[in-house]
Amino acid sequence: MASIFTDRINPGLQNGMDDILNQQTLELKTVHNQSIFVGRQSELQTLLDLGETVMAGLGRVAVVVGEPGIGKSRLIQQWKEKFNNTHPNNFPLWINAKTITFDEDLAFNLLKVLFRAIIHSLTPDQPKIDFSYILKFIVEKHHLLTDMQGSVLALLLDNPFEDEKENFIQQPSAQDLQNQYKNTLKVLLSNLAKKQPLIIVLEDLQWADRSSINLLAEVIPLIRSLPILLCLVSRDERKSNGWQLVSASRNLIGQQCIEINLEKLEDDESLSLIRQLTEFHNIFTDTVKVILEKSEGNPFFIEELVQMVLGNETTQENSLAQPEKKSFDLAQIPDSLQALIAARLDRLEPDAVLTLQVASVIGRSFSLKLLDDSSRTVPQTAGA
Ligand SMILES: Nc1ncnc2c1ncn2[C@@H]1O[C@H](COP(=O)(O)OP(=O)(O)OP(=O)(O)O)[C@@H](O)[C@H]1O
Ligand SMILES: [Mg+2]
Repeated sequence: MASIFTDRINPGLQNGMDDILNQQTLELKTVHNQSIFVGRQSELQTLLDLGETVMAGLGRVAVVVGEPGIGKSRLIQQWKEKFNNTHPNNFPLWINAKTITFDEDLAFNLLKVLFRAIIHSLTPDQPKIDFSYILKFIVEKHHLLTDMQGSVLALLLDNPFEDEKENFIQQPSAQDLQNQYKNTLKVLLSNLAKKQPLIIVLEDLQWADRSSINLLAEVIPLIRSLPILLCLVSRDERKSNGWQLVSASRNLIGQQCIEINLEKLEDDESLSLIRQLTEFHNIFTDTVKVILEKSEGNPFFIEELVQMVLGNETTQENSLAQPEKKSFDLAQIPDSLQALIAARLDRLEPDAVLTLQVASVIGRSFSLKLLDDSSRTVPQTAGA
């Protein structure tokens, strides 16, 4: 396959990047969302009930907590689908803001993601959110913000002011800016919630930045008087910035804050997921048992182990007789997700391994150019 990087970068890195991108072995979620949804009926019902509460005009906070891969995002997705199906004509406005790994060092990152998510949910087809669009759409058409607040929003979203510079206070202090961001968010959410109930999902909160969390904590009291359901989705990382928002919700609105702890799947639920994922394959009962034991009710781990086993233990296709089973060394099944990922890395080509090693030394985020420059300083592998 032709490289997508052509000759912009050195050949070793080029091979490595191509290998990583082409490798199924690094594709961690290939069976994603194709499986039936198992278990979680009471948690789903709690969320559906909360949805009804917000539709009835009352604000709430929902906290969904659980270990990585336990099914938080899938539960939210299931909830949204089911809820919208039962409200075909009067949805709430769903706003889904998701942080990503390593975002916690970027000031106001979650706030930016949230504002973008709000604008996206109002105009899902709008490809570019720039200053003039914010003014035209948010300010002039929907009267959600004043000119000044529109300018603040544009500033936060990193858009240059161009002709509109004079609208904005010159060189505001950090504290001024923070207050303006907070007021803009409050006004925008209040004005939106007066038009239609809002369900705001903040996903992967464990990676949120501190400045956004401090500011969002001040918005929580709005929930007392407006139909806003704020759904905080987080891994159980109580020292993270994001957890402060959970604590603030508990302190500020107590009984209006409902918590859902996602526990591991029951064995029969895990089994039905395994059966479904292996439906067209003839898997030894012993293998199923080992997957069941090692995955410990974590659906992500189940999917990954099934995928690993299916790459090794499969039926002979087109056989009319009882499909023949190939043996699989059960000792090869890793005991943890980390071990599973390490096993995949071991199967990569040397250039790909080198590329990942260089990238991991550089740090959490980097440009392709930096990766290119750095990888030129390490010896290239044979054939590069
Ligand atoms: N109840 C379920 N039934 C079937 N599949 C599920 C279920 N829950 C999760 N899965 C599947 O397991 C995988 C991991 O789930 P999900 O991404 O929701 O985990 P998560 O808790 O959000 O993880 P993270 O902390 O990494 O965000 C997904 O492919 C998802 O489709
Ligand atoms: Mg998730």
